[in-house]
Amino acid sequence: MEVLQAAVDREAAGHRVVHMEVGQPGAPAPRPVLEAARRALEDGRFGYTEALGARRLRERIARHYGDSYGIDVPHTRIAVTTGSSAGFNLAFLAAFDVGDRIGLAMPGYPAYRNLLGALGLEVANIGTSAESGYVVTPEMLIAAHGESPLKGLLIASPANPTGTVMQPEALGALIETAEDLGIRFISDEIYHGLVYQGRAETALKYSPHAIVINSFSKYYCMTGWRIGWMVLPEELVRPIERIAQNLYISAPDISQRAAIAAFDATEELETVKAGYAASRNLLLDRLPAIGFGDFYPVDGAFYVYVSVRGFSNDSVDFTRRMLTDAGVAATPGPDFDTERGHAWMRLSFAGTEADMCEAVERLGNWLA
Ligand SMILES: Cc1ncc(COP(=O)(O)O)c(C=O)c1O
Repeated sequence: MEVLQAAVDREAAGHRVVHMEVGQPGAPAPRPVLEAARRALEDGRFGYTEALGARRLRERIARHYGDSYGIDVPHTRIAVTTGSSAGFNLAFLAAFDVGDRIGLAMPGYPAYRNLLGALGLEVANIGTSAESGYVVTPEMLIAAHGESPLKGLLIASPANPTGTVMQPEALGALIETAEDLGIRFISDEIYHGLVYQGRAETALKYSPHAIVINSFSKYYCMTGWRIGWMVLPEELVRPIERIAQNLYISAPDISQRAAIAAFDATEELETVKAGYAASRNLLLDRLPAIGFGDFYPVDGAFYVYVSVRGFSNDSVDFTRRMLTDAGVAATPGPDFDTERGHAWMRLSFAGTEADMCEAVERLGNWLA
């Protein structure tokens, strides 16, 4: 967000900036969503909904699990949230107690660690690397648990910032190990739908006790609508309903009514995804030639996590200079990895393919 601010300041001063720092789709919400929102506006009455979400949306989300994964989930296990961000808060509050230790893959999405810290939970960083596809293995989990017992494990697949997708067998094996050790598995599935290589399976397939967190923000292009969902184990439905009611009463009514239509926008959303796929190909092809050859080749999401070691050992300084000298904004690695991130940065290809092309050219000229 600080990089975004610096980029916006440069633009306000009249400079061109290519945005590779943003973690959100450039495309607007799909047409059926906008139409549903317009219809809702004409009605004009917006109120609180049930804390776990309007029944029609919960039923539609439940149906999505049948359609997309062949899994039968009752709508009563679905909780609609204000983005997946609220889902993490609810999951941590309901499943853990102060002082509990939760495993996270590092590099990883920084808000997990910040939220856990704010709630008095301890973070156990599990270091992963490009060589092993940034995947947390059962062996790594057993080792982290052996150091000091874990109560939870949170994994995103596809992951931010690495784009790693855990293949179904690997995910199943990790969940099985976690549950054997009494560790609650939380699955961040926000980048499902954005997979270019392999297949992302839902954690629901492997356990009725996993907490699944998802969102309309990424595949569905609805970041600003602040709407997401969770699929809950039966035993956590009531606790989460009570916490949600006290935290924010309900997710926004208009976003809930609009989100129902998101599942009918597959054709439009697949076109957006095809744009990401083209940008991904372009970056994987051209980054090595300009000196950024050390990266894992992105199975999903819309990020390349790339080493800047060939140019600098301080990616905060490097990305600052990259913005001012080359006009390309990126996110420095320490946001994602407090130990090794100084040599890495994240490039987002959620913008247009033309912008990605321009970014590579600008970087090539700057570094030549
Ligand atoms: C891995 C991951 N999880 C969760 C979120 C939060 O998204 P939202 O609250 O919009 O659903 C993000 C946002 O970038 C993310 O990258």
